[in-house]
Amino acid sequence: MMDKGFTFSNKFKKDEYVGKMLKTIRAPSEERFLDRLLIGAILEYRGVERFALIGEAMEEPELQKFYHRLSEQEKNHGMMFIDLASIYFDEDVIRKRWDEMKVIEAEIAMNTKWTSAIH
Ligand SMILES: [Fe+2]
Repeated sequence: MMDKGFTFSNKFKKDEYVGKMLKTIRAPSEERFLDRLLIGAILEYRGVERFALIGEAMEEPELQKFYHRLSEQEKNHGMMFIDLASIYFDEDVIRKRWDEMKVIEAEIAMNTKWTSAIH
């Protein structure tokens, strides 16, 4: 990235989308643990989409491949969170909350200002 002349700020703002997601975490300990794992998975899966879109927008094949690899890695990270959840929770519990969180997340995504951010 530096070879391409990109610079990065060392100042980070709180991300509105992530903040809204974190506010949906339930309070009881077990539910909190599951919600945090599933939010981790959702953020990673959004990264899959984000990096794939960036890659598609790149003209240089080298950068296309770079972002494609990042997208694939985000998929692996998302699966890691689901795998971790499956160690501690039954599949039906995970599925039920996953389905609920997909609806919640869609609502948040549709009602949050778009920004250029990496989570
Ligand atoms: Fe990641």
